[in-house]
Amino acid sequence: MVETLVFAPTKVNLKEAINKSRLPKHIAIIMDGNGRWAKQKGMLRAFGHENGTKAVRQTVETCAELGIKYLTLYAFSTENWNRPKIEIDTLMRLLVSSLKKEINTLSDNKIKLSAIGNLEALPKKVHRELLEVIELTKNNERMTLTLALSYGSREELINAVKEISHKVKNNIISSENIDESLINKHLYTQNLPDVDLVIRTSGEQRISNFLLWQIAYAELYFTSVLWPDFTKENLYEAIVEYQKRERRFGKTSEQIS
Ligand code: IPE
Ligand code: IPE
Ligand code: MG
Repeated sequence: MVETLVFAPTKVNLKEAINKSRLPKHIAIIMDGNGRWAKQKGMLRAFGHENGTKAVRQTVETCAELGIKYLTLYAFSTENWNRPKIEIDTLMRLLVSSLKKEINTLSDNKIKLSAIGNLEALPKKVHRELLEVIELTKNNERMTLTLALSYGSREELINAVKEISHKVKNNIISSENIDESLINKHLYTQNLPDVDLVIRTSGEQRISNFLLWQIAYAELYFTSVLWPDFTKENLYEAIVEYQKRERRFGKTSEQIS
């Protein structure tokens, strides 16, 4: 009992346990569990989504403070279009209001907003607001915050294959020149580095069509915390765990050390 008390990591030392020289450059988060969080409280799913936006703000600020260069948040998948219309409407409404509300936070923290996904499929109002904030923050260099909206990795790959085959057909490129870097250039994520750490909340252990190509060598971290409950400390915990892992990229442990 005494030992547990002595060794239980406190909020302060979790942050201090992070090695600043080995931060993940790119963190991608599957923000899951809003619906279950609300249900547990006897509330409607919309309440969970509203509270999820608070966790978004805190996570964005914490990543910027820590010095994470790229943060990508899965906010709405291509499959999420299959949800009831009323829920989709709520999510889109929250998106517009959050963008309006957070523009100052983004500017104050020198965060550049970007978006990946089939943005044309979003309601006009959302699309317009999004482009506006992207434009207003385009010169910020502290951190790039990317929202995955109407995003599906398979759709992204299909689009890339179509574009590349079109270029081959028109002799713009030769099929001999198709390599990883060329494929990267045809993805929505062309300006982002590979993902180092994927975090998924809510206890589900799956990828749900998120960045399939880009997470080829990412470390995966699953937590049972529901997204609206996700705190700074939960993020520190994920980073500390990431830093304990040895990323071998196919090599042997001896080659790494
Ligand atoms: C994540 O929470 C938000 C979105 C997918 C938009 P969910 O809405 O998926 O919550 P659960 O999984 O039903 O609890
Ligand atoms: C994944 O969550 C998409 C987002 C977090 C935006 P879902 O809750 O939609 O995933 P599945 O369908 O349960 O796998
Ligand atoms: Mg879910």
